[in-house]
Amino acid sequence: MTAQILDGKKLAADVRAELAHKVAALSGDNVPVLAVVLVGDNEASRIYVRNKKKAAAEVGIVCEVFEMSDTIGEQALLAVIDELNENPHVSGIIVQLPLPAHINPLKILAAIRPQKDVDGFNPYNAGLLACREPQAVVSATPKGILRLLQSTGMNLAGKHVVVIGRSNIVGRPAAMLLLNHDCTVTITHSHTRNLPELTRQADIVVAACGCPKLVKKDWIKFGAVVIDVGINRLDGKLCGDVDFEQVKEIASYITPVPGGVGPMTVAMLLENTYEAALRQPTHECCHGHGHCGCHKHND
Ligand code: GUN
Repeated sequence: MTAQILDGKKLAADVRAELAHKVAALSGDNVPVLAVVLVGDNEASRIYVRNKKKAAAEVGIVCEVFEMSDTIGEQALLAVIDELNENPHVSGIIVQLPLPAHINPLKILAAIRPQKDVDGFNPYNAGLLACREPQAVVSATPKGILRLLQSTGMNLAGKHVVVIGRSNIVGRPAAMLLLNHDCTVTITHSHTRNLPELTRQADIVVAACGCPKLVKKDWIKFGAVVIDVGINRLDGKLCGDVDFEQVKEIASYITPVPGGVGPMTVAMLLENTYEAALRQPTHECCHGHGHCGCHKHND
């Protein structure tokens, strides 16, 4: 078998095109605004933020980047978040991770107003997802993984998913989201014994551990679907957590790196921002669609 490639680049472009139409239909003061807080000068974070800004512009979402020195204190950063929470023009807020070691990320993420938490990293939204509450803001990467799986047309109910990695930003929320879609989910991590034995039982493998080319051909059941969340550098080249060249011979579908999950993450962040803009209390009148005729849409 040679796997079909799950083309995240193409799917993300489709999502962005649809979003662009929806955003264009919003009236002037309803245009979604994404505030990105970037602390310090982590090279990878800068690249991710640049990509988010470019993609936002493409769909008509305003993206404002707030760059902070890596010497900023926790209190000062909390004050920035508070200002963005209170700003009625800001629809969504993200804090690019990782943060410098002297800042407690949980404290910062918990300070983002849940309705504006378009990364879904606030523990309140993570809790809503864990409780299977539909109003949870679901973080972008798990949402992108789900969309990629749904694009195959497969029925997810009862499928055995093995998630490799238990991070707050991918492994855990991806496991919850797939559980909420009736999958049977096994979460594995660095202490898991006999990992290949577990992945061989999976209908779907989600690799999100940050280990270059960890997942080999003999880890995968014939015809399984393989989602690679890893973005690693090996010998100067970008690669995922899956040994793509080997595994594509066994899987039915596989995501490439780059061009798989990465572009979907950005597209889902923009979708979350659009949805957050519709939730802004200033536009409760029409949920942001602008057809209520009230003065808020006539600026
Ligand atoms: N760092 C790595 N991935 C992400 C992400 O999806 N959102 C944020 N805010 N930071 C990240």
